[in-house]
Amino acid sequence: MSHSADRPATLPRVTVPNHVAIIMDGNGRWAQQRGLPRLEGHRRGVETVRTVTNAARELGIKMLTLYAFSVENWNRPKTEVSGLMGLLEFYLKQELKTFVKDKVRLRTIGRVDELPAGVQKHLNHTVAETAQFTEYTLVLALNYGSRTEVVDAARAYAAAVAAGKEKLNDSSWATFSRYLSTADMPDPDLIIRTSGETRLSNFLLMQGAYAELVFTPVLWPDFTKADLVAACDDYARRERRYGLTAEQIRQPAARAAK
Ligand code: FPP
Repeated sequence: MSHSADRPATLPRVTVPNHVAIIMDGNGRWAQQRGLPRLEGHRRGVETVRTVTNAARELGIKMLTLYAFSVENWNRPKTEVSGLMGLLEFYLKQELKTFVKDKVRLRTIGRVDELPAGVQKHLNHTVAETAQFTEYTLVLALNYGSRTEVVDAARAYAAAVAAGKEKLNDSSWATFSRYLSTADMPDPDLIIRTSGETRLSNFLLMQGAYAELVFTPVLWPDFTKADLVAACDDYARRERRYGLTAEQIRQPAARAAK
């Protein structure tokens, strides 16, 4: 984690990131360390999903995106894939009441239409039942991968151009990004990965272009509210420059003076 004791006190400090995205990693190792089946690690991982969803809401984070199942995860042993799908379905069934009580909006990114029918049914139901909530959104990345998402978006964009709905000459990130599954979502400010791995693994590669990255050795089932707070504190100490110089960020007037 970074330290910034030398940072000028006058810097604007945005203490709470608006959108936090998490690569929940280490369930398998957590289980293995205890001589338990991998699925037990995922089961404990679901408990952490509950804890962290609550914690983020309490901290004032507006959007939390969790990488729950990647397009690559289908290649895991069949029993693990079906176990994960079962956990997801069970979680959705159980959680709806809490989402409504806490006014949590659920949405998804990824190729959800390729998930098992039972999961899709509960997802669609939960998404519809929570669509009116505006304060806090939990986004589950399911059957998600950035490259797949970009290919899907490019295909949809090309179709829109062919249909005369978009003009190729007007192409811009603002236009194209409306075809990503994250359309109308703010970019993540902070991406956290647990378990000591320091990769993005095909997660929000475009949307995370300016995100701060925090890597923690904590395995996902052990991740607590305190770990989330620590990651947010780290985020708050950093200076997001968006390609500008430090001086331009510190003295906005310098931005105008070329
Ligand atoms: C990574 O751990 C975790 C996953 C691939 C799945 C994450 C899923 C959950 C936390 C449970 C289901 C989610 C919801 C929202 C109900 P890993 O298995 O790769 O761990 P390892 O690297 O230690 O093997």
